[in-house]
Amino acid sequence: MKSPIIAPSILSADFARLGEEVKSVLSAGADWIHFDVMDNHYVPNLTVGPLVCEAIRPHAMKDGKPAVIDVHLMIEPVDRIIPDFAKAGANVISFHPEASAHIDRTLGLIRDSGCMAGLVLNPATPIHHLDHVMDKIDLVLLMSVNPGFGGQSFIPSTLDKLKLVRAKLDAYEKQSGKKIHLEVDGGVKVDNIAAIGQAGADTFVAGSAIFSKPDYAAVITAMRNALG
Ligand code: DX5
Ligand code: ZN
Repeated sequence: MKSPIIAPSILSADFARLGEEVKSVLSAGADWIHFDVMDNHYVPNLTVGPLVCEAIRPHAMKDGKPAVIDVHLMIEPVDRIIPDFAKAGANVISFHPEASAHIDRTLGLIRDSGCMAGLVLNPATPIHHLDHVMDKIDLVLLMSVNPGFGGQSFIPSTLDKLKLVRAKLDAYEKQSGKKIHLEVDGGVKVDNIAAIGQAGADTFVAGSAIFSKPDYAAVITAMRNALG
């Protein structure tokens, strides 16, 4: 695999010390910061919005350069808030197709705002949602839990789904030359990350696996070693 991207989800971080947590996890070897936005409507939980994204932006630095803030929108509707996240310093913005009445338009809005666009598929959401928008997406995020909470168990059937999406993305890359990230989110741990990587993921979100341990670097290094 090309070098895998590890994206800790701040959902399991200490919110009272969020800037510090972002800095520590990046200096512990993380690549991206995964930023979970929930609205108590599309999912039964409520988290943070553009103001908090803007507040962590200056802390999200890696090797003197801004690290990618990977915003995962679990909100409905989606469009109104996209420019706010772009202004707040988001680099990737992903949304669930069920939460947008006009998927193509939403993807366009994200890209027009200067961000990479991602489509998120829930465990039971079919992959044909990708079919007519491959040219407009930069990332596919496969949920390996039902969205809404950190600390849930990885749903094993995600591995088969990952293989199907990997094949689709590889075929598309062959024909178009365009690379699309394949990210997995939910229940990713040191002991299952190798299988997830073998099934085709290149970008790995992990919340509780990292933030529940005192030594973030030890977990991230173990994850990288498992990926080989
Ligand atoms: C779930 C969120 C995930 C979650 C991951 O709705 O999208 O990003 O925080 O947490 P863990 O790694 O604990 O499953
Ligand atoms: Zn997420």
